[in-house]
Amino acid sequence: MPNKRIYLYPVWIRLWHTINAILMVLLILSGLSMQYSNPDYPLIRFDLAVKMHNISGILLTVFFLYFLLAIIFNWAGKYYRMPLKEFGDHIFKQVKYYTVGIFRGDKPPFPVNEQRKFNPIQLLSYNAIQFLAIPLVIITGWALLFPETIVLDFFGYSGILLTSLLHVSMGFIISIFLIIHLYFITVGHSVTANLKSIVTGYHEVEEEDTLAARTPESNTTLDKNNKTHTKNPKT
Ligand code: HEM
Repeated sequence: MPNKRIYLYPVWIRLWHTINAILMVLLILSGLSMQYSNPDYPLIRFDLAVKMHNISGILLTVFFLYFLLAIIFNWAGKYYRMPLKEFGDHIFKQVKYYTVGIFRGDKPPFPVNEQRKFNPIQLLSYNAIQFLAIPLVIITGWALLFPETIVLDFFGYSGILLTSLLHVSMGFIISIFLIIHLYFITVGHSVTANLKSIVTGYHEVEEEDTLAARTPESNTTLDKNNKTHTKNPKT
């Protein structure tokens, strides 16, 4: 049973995440409505869908830049660093846990603690979405907003067609991520535990998991204000 709370989601992440989630839903709905537009049964009227998509896309760009700057300068950015060494092995262990271990009641192989906020699958997917899919959807979106900036001919293919294909593909990938994300946030100590964390900022953990994190290699702990304390400064 969780018996300790650690502060993992600072206010700026919670603010960014809420706005980002709302904008993504608006973008997906307006994007789908334009993609499969049918004047007789429009999900959203075409001209409204275009406006909604453009405004949400511009706001998404602003908040993405805010996220980037915060990740670079705030302590919470360290959780996005991918330890390349043995990462494949870590992913394998996490997949095994999600497909077998979780149904046997095994303990998670990478529990949350002060040093590790995300398990390897979360780390990989959050990095792929935040630093690949979202930047690509933003760049191609801006290019489509100003089509005169796109090369007309790219090795014999229409530049606009390729840009649009990339934009739509990234949109679909982000939509699929969202569905999987919504499922995985229910996999915590309880169905609502992760949702509670992103609302309150605090994640509930087991004391023994946080103690296990204070290994000789890490040698540091974080207090509730996320100030780093060195356990034994000499070693
Ligand atoms: C629409 C409803 C959404 C809900 C209810 C939701 C819920 C959550 C919850 C509960 C967490 C905390 C658990 C965890 O860290 O894994 C989380 C984290 C996260 N979500 Fe979402 N999410 C939504 C949409 C999105 C979207 C659209 C994106 C990006 C395209 C996104 C990206 C992220 C990222 C990157 C984190 C980690 C944030 C951090 O702590 O650094 N989420 N989400």
